[in-house]
Amino acid sequence: MTTTSSAPGKVYLFGEHAVVYGEPAVPCAIERRARVTVTARDDDRVRVSADDLSLDGFTVEYGSGSDEQPDVDVPTPLIEAAMGYVEESLEQARDAADRPEAGFDVEIESEIPLGAGLGSSAAVVVAGIDAATRELGVELTPEDVAERAYRVEHEVQDGQASRADTFCSAMGGAVRVEGDDCRAIDAPDLPFVVGYDGASHDTGELVAGVRDLRDEYDFAADTVEAVGDLVREGERALADGDLDTLGELMDFNHGLLSALGVSARSLDNLVWAAREGGALGAKLTGAGGGGCIVALDEGDGVETALSLAPECEQSFRAELATEGVRVE
Ligand code: MEV
Repeated sequence: MTTTSSAPGKVYLFGEHAVVYGEPAVPCAIERRARVTVTARDDDRVRVSADDLSLDGFTVEYGSGSDEQPDVDVPTPLIEAAMGYVEESLEQARDAADRPEAGFDVEIESEIPLGAGLGSSAAVVVAGIDAATRELGVELTPEDVAERAYRVEHEVQDGQASRADTFCSAMGGAVRVEGDDCRAIDAPDLPFVVGYDGASHDTGELVAGVRDLRDEYDFAADTVEAVGDLVREGERALADGDLDTLGELMDFNHGLLSALGVSARSLDNLVWAAREGGALGAKLTGAGGGGCIVALDEGDGVETALSLAPECEQSFRAELATEGVRVE
């Protein structure tokens, strides 16, 4: 048998980083998906291949249930990072099905650039857990998949992960996450435009940077709390469908993230290009450091402005993905 599951990436309307410290965040799933195809094997070996993930493509083969580790004798740290997420996801599937020795062939295709703030790792983990458990005859609810996917991110990111990315990818739509409290929320049609600078970041390093600042300075801790206040204000604007206020708050959120040291010159330039193109608001999305910004724009001025910006590798309109994890 073979099973393919897919899960969406996401943008943060508000609240990344602060969500790690218990403040609320509102991520929204977008119609860019990771697809993971899993075939259960007769032996305990694992073979992983990926053609996309903004990588040149790779194949890794190793034995599970033994001391043999993935032989990641390949040039890029991104592949090593991707393998960490894949291996932990398979471990979750083995655990859910009580099949500790299960082997798999895994094929990953992703429309989401890796490490760029669009939740690529969460989407691969969510789709991977769903496909691998189904291959072993176990059907998890999206909430169960989200819980197991969170454990994977928590493990791979050394205990520094919120539930936001994984819950959003598993459930789809707009969600609100505050600590362990995760729920779907109603959202108007949000005219998202994404700009991508072609760079990738190390989420763990950026999260650790914010943690250090917060430990060192009370005003950095206050900044994290201010993000929480902003998110609560943003939720009211979201409920009223007030796009102007949402845009204003996105601009503010970008400023606070910048103060916390997670923006980059390229991201600031993209944010300014989007604003000059008529955005209602623009901010970096995800961990920062390089990767993507998200803007609100009902017209086509922002896409045009971004496509002309020298730092912009790609810009696209991102529809809200109402469906989370699903079997293909
Ligand atoms: C990364 O996509 C979002 C962060 O808030 C980390 C997390 O929530 O786990 C930076």
